[in-house]
Amino acid sequence: MIIGSTGQIGSELTMELRKRYGNDSVIAGYITGAEPQGELKESGPAALVDVTDRNSIEAAVTQHSIDTIYNMAALLSVVAESKPQLAWKIGIDGLWNILEVARQHGCAVFTPSSIGSFGPDTPHANTPQDTVQHPQTIYGVSKVTTELLSNYYYHRYGVDTRAVRFPGIISNVTAPGGGTTDYAVDIYYAAVRGEKFVCPIKEGTYMDMMYMPDALDAAIRLMEADPARLVHRNAFNVAAMSFAPEQIYAAIRKQLPAFEMEYNVDPLKQEIADSWPDCMDDTCARQEWDWKPKYNLETMTADMLEKLKARLPEG
Ligand code: SER
Repeated sequence: MIIGSTGQIGSELTMELRKRYGNDSVIAGYITGAEPQGELKESGPAALVDVTDRNSIEAAVTQHSIDTIYNMAALLSVVAESKPQLAWKIGIDGLWNILEVARQHGCAVFTPSSIGSFGPDTPHANTPQDTVQHPQTIYGVSKVTTELLSNYYYHRYGVDTRAVRFPGIISNVTAPGGGTTDYAVDIYYAAVRGEKFVCPIKEGTYMDMMYMPDALDAAIRLMEADPARLVHRNAFNVAAMSFAPEQIYAAIRKQLPAFEMEYNVDPLKQEIADSWPDCMDDTCARQEWDWKPKYNLETMTADMLEKLKARLPEG
């Protein structure tokens, strides 16, 4: 079951899991106001599951005999700053509800952490797997807590919790909402629409990023991994590419030479971006469960532009 199945990652994760395990084996959990639509709705079963309501989680787990929960419910970093209590309620109280149901019904749980779980005093280059985590955003505070609580449930109760620290995820199906790395998605839409892109992040600001097919592969591969090989659990650094705005701009310009970009730096996004790693070291994920991304900036750009050109009216 995927909780948050209509969100940026959840929507594609649900379809990928259905492809691999069969449509009827994968339940799309959703909340009121964010119901599955189109292919997501037509392709398989769905259940109303609100992380803030433990009964709704338990009812779906019991009714559909769920063995694995992908917990994709979250507020992203920028929007969380404007609603810190809600971010905590979804991220931590919600996780607590899920873990309790998982403990009672024997479910495995995947709850993503993030590059946002690091802070200004973390080493920014080749950020180690095990290092200082003092984030200054509520998003980061909730992600560190997520990691600790997930590990606690594993050690204390044997709940099979596993997670990765996702970089900014770039995709062309469902838009992200309110993240610091969203610019690296928005820039492709502007390019294909023939619009000038106004970049909210300063030149020279490096952040880890990943194309959606690799992100889905990371989540599923980790959940399928042999537990005997896992030294770490919550949560693995996973890296695919790291770039600054001028580099993604240049990669797009190679294919769309008329594309233009200017900077109008958003102080909150910039402060958050500056506090995150430039690039993470993902050696442990590679060693413990054979993590290996397929896409780099060039191959991702080619695929993003091709998919968006087919879907969007060109400007
Ligand atoms: N994409 C997320 C954000 O920007 C980072 O995990 O909030």
